[in-house]
Amino acid sequence: MGTCKEKYRYLNGFNSYHESEAVEGALPIGANSPQKPPYGLYAEKLSGTAFTAPRHENQQTWLYRILPSCGHSNFEPRESSTYNTNPENKPYEKIHHIPNQLRWDPFDLDKTVDWVHSLHLVAGAGDPTMKSGLGIYIYAAGKDMAAHEAFYSSDGDFLIVPQHGALDIQTEMGHLLVRPNEICVIPRGIKYRVTLPAGPVRGYILELYQGHFSLPELGPIGSNCLANARDFQAPVATFEEDTSTSWTILCKFAGHLFAASQTHSPFDVVAWHGLYYPYKYDLGRFNTIGSVSFDHPDPSIYTVLTAQSDRPGTAIADFVIFPPRWLVAEDTFRPPWYHRNTMSEFMGLIHGQYDAKTGGGFQPAGASLHNVMSGHGPDATTHEKASNAGLKPSKVGDGSMAFMFESCLMVGVTEWGLSKCKKVQKDYNAESWEPLKPHFKRPGKIENGAGDVREEGVEGDKAQVPHWTA
Ligand SMILES: [Fe+2]
Repeated sequence: MGTCKEKYRYLNGFNSYHESEAVEGALPIGANSPQKPPYGLYAEKLSGTAFTAPRHENQQTWLYRILPSCGHSNFEPRESSTYNTNPENKPYEKIHHIPNQLRWDPFDLDKTVDWVHSLHLVAGAGDPTMKSGLGIYIYAAGKDMAAHEAFYSSDGDFLIVPQHGALDIQTEMGHLLVRPNEICVIPRGIKYRVTLPAGPVRGYILELYQGHFSLPELGPIGSNCLANARDFQAPVATFEEDTSTSWTILCKFAGHLFAASQTHSPFDVVAWHGLYYPYKYDLGRFNTIGSVSFDHPDPSIYTVLTAQSDRPGTAIADFVIFPPRWLVAEDTFRPPWYHRNTMSEFMGLIHGQYDAKTGGGFQPAGASLHNVMSGHGPDATTHEKASNAGLKPSKVGDGSMAFMFESCLMVGVTEWGLSKCKKVQKDYNAESWEPLKPHFKRPGKIENGAGDVREEGVEGDKAQVPHWTA
């Protein structure tokens, strides 16, 4: 994988009110829309929430640009028979709601397409026209977007998780360089152009059709840890002065592609201020918390970003990571426990090996989906190993980064995800869990009459420290 050194400057802070000007004095002072904005710029407001959204949710940004966004030709449908990222667009893309555990082999790189055409909807729930739910995509591209093209999604916020290659993203607010082990969020409506400075790219996207991401509450953890607010990075204003070239604006609207043309660069924002902007985050900065006594807490302690439903604590989407970390818990089965969940769990692997699976079937650039109430957990080999392992402090996940998109919604799988991509492993369950053996032994020796004596089961030690104090 080509490495790519950081080349941009950023503004630090999550949900911070930022302001940035590429030319000193371009931001009006004390007013948003003066009769004549500085330097003859146009003022344009970009609303990421309703005007009247509560103050703690309200996200608006003022842009000071050479020309406003509205000057363009009509949008016309593009590639309407082939481009489809709309979960409701039956029959082109039938959605399969199935309870099976699913696992995918690594998705292929594709050097023939650019960012816009690299998006494959794998799974999702809800409907962008109702602003409800989410979509999960795999992207794989090998070409820069054309020199005078920009893209935006009207459907939701993109949370982009690169697995391979670097994304150089020019946005209306400025540039972001996003590499594997970093993530970025590009909110609904913000125009951007993606180039690939280190060759082909591949990764995962969660598109949030409703609301925006926030940092999880920390409760008794206190005021720091997990993803700290200061580590989120927003671009600084950068602009192009181009009012003569023909530009194509591509728009994903209800899952379909549209294009309009205009004779000015959409990247002409000289200054901006507000709360609605793209940002990136380096997963290496995540301050991981875990048990220092026994058991391990719910994986919610690994939540980087969350998008809450109307019910507090219940997420439309949680973005959760499994970073390298120390396991020190005593008398504890250290891998994740066996589990059935009212939430759906889509997992991916950026690099390395995930500690709950040893069979080799969950690989970087692959994925798994454990849908609502579908049982999952360590595979038989991992269970066997972990049940007998010495419990010295040990580091897991060294050089590895797995992640999960967890949702309270039942996730349907697209035709592409289930069959066209040809990556679904037919033997996931058979390999992982069907080999699990019973270890149950009743108390007392039992003879079966044929001379076989079963071993006596071992009672839980009620005097054990530190689990019981009786
Ligand atoms: Fe789970």
